[in-house]
Amino acid sequence: MNAQQVIEQFRATGVQTCFHDRHINPQIYAGLNGSNWSLKDYEARGGYQALRKILGKDGGEGLTQDQVIATVKDSALRGRGGAGFPTGLKWSFMPRQFPGQKYLVCNSDEGEPGTCKDRDILMYNPHIVIEGMAIAAYAMGISVGYNYIHGEIFEVYERFEAALEEARAAGYLGNNIMGSNYSFQLHAHHGFGAYICGEETALLESLEGKKGQPRFKPPFPASFGLYGKPTTINNTETFAAVPWIIRNGGQAYLECGKPNNGGTKIFSVSGDVNQPGNYEVPMGTPFAKLLELAGGVRTGRQLKAVIPGGSSAPVLPAHIMMECTMDYDSISKAGSMLGSGAVIVMDDSRCMVESLKRLSYFYMHESCGQCTPCREGTGWLWRLVDRIHRGEGRPADMDLLDNVAENIMGRTICALGDAAAMPVRAMLKHFRPEFAAMIKSDAASTSATTGQAA
Ligand SMILES: Cc1cc2nc3c(=O)[nH]c(=O)nc-3n(C[C@H](O)[C@H](O)[C@H](O)COP(=O)(O)O)c2cc1C
Ligand code: SF4
Repeated sequence: MNAQQVIEQFRATGVQTCFHDRHINPQIYAGLNGSNWSLKDYEARGGYQALRKILGKDGGEGLTQDQVIATVKDSALRGRGGAGFPTGLKWSFMPRQFPGQKYLVCNSDEGEPGTCKDRDILMYNPHIVIEGMAIAAYAMGISVGYNYIHGEIFEVYERFEAALEEARAAGYLGNNIMGSNYSFQLHAHHGFGAYICGEETALLESLEGKKGQPRFKPPFPASFGLYGKPTTINNTETFAAVPWIIRNGGQAYLECGKPNNGGTKIFSVSGDVNQPGNYEVPMGTPFAKLLELAGGVRTGRQLKAVIPGGSSAPVLPAHIMMECTMDYDSISKAGSMLGSGAVIVMDDSRCMVESLKRLSYFYMHESCGQCTPCREGTGWLWRLVDRIHRGEGRPADMDLLDNVAENIMGRTICALGDAAAMPVRAMLKHFRPEFAAMIKSDAASTSATTGQAA
């Protein structure tokens, strides 16, 4: 099947994405069929009950701001944008008594290679994000929010705008929501496809209409965010988890996952599997189970390695990965990161030098150029890997590569520098003989030894 056919199949059936029965206890993707995204459908699935609950519109007393934040803390929800920062704790950093404007921002930039979960949430269940944001804004005393949506997926932006219109017309957004004294205005904004605009401060710059380049931190967005005002930023999936937590309680969410890693997580499984797609499973699900859900490694092939959390996450060899469970703590203990949950599966036909060359090119291309170690270092990394891949590598190149990567890490304004360096160091740590073999011989013969098709 060529790329165009895959896209057509995706559009027609969604089989490559989230419409399959191979999720485990899904909360965000539950009941979706590709066409039931509207307000009426969402309400039929219990939508907006959590917002009604906190505002006391279903007979209860409602929840205070502190109670909402405490519930989210109890749930052990960790930010789904990459760093896994505890969401309730982040919400408690918002200076609620600040007298001026405060902002809430949803990060739907989703540019991490391998990640494609947020676009499915926005396309097929947009109201869950709107409700999650309305609850978050209530908890932090915020009256204005923005959803920054990746620029190259315009149909997703249009779908979200349509859902916003529905929510406004039904009184779930706007002034005096459901007759209460709580008001929240939410707007959509689309970027233009730069990966760096997913970094939260670059996103804020872009939202302000400036060049999307990260800011120095501190100050952090909680004190100096959008237009210099206190701002909380969370990922799309993070907000999408909130309605379930409020409806069912923090403890129930925590128990869906494992301690310190509450709830379910959506994993975008791609690469050498039979059924790539988005899979929502409880935190702590064994990687072997996730692989099985995705149809296993391509027929006739063996698992070689996995990048468990998007292209920035260090690669792990098969034997380590098969022992891991899919949660922040287990993957971190194994030496990588759960990141955004993009699981890139590589079988024994993959050449690691070529894979790293592709990754390094991406980071070189996406560096915003503000700081020297990243601007220059990402180019050095790519040129070194390219030289090795062309069969022109020198014996000292492996150490040089590691040294350049080491000197980028921790010396840049934002984490893109680390994201470029970590895959290099992990590839050398786990697959050094492949690099050495390519330095000794030419690229073609090394490809043959790794089993890669010409
Ligand atoms: C280079 C770079 C790209 C990023 N891209 C995204 C992204 O596309 N989506 C996202 O939610 N977070 C992204 N992040 C993380 C954000 O800066 C931020 O931590 C996140 O949006 C916070 O939300 P959370 O607490 O819900 O995870 C990126 C970070 C870096 C350094
Ligand atoms: S680390 Fe790279 S992307 Fe981040 S600010 Fe510096 S140059 Fe820009």
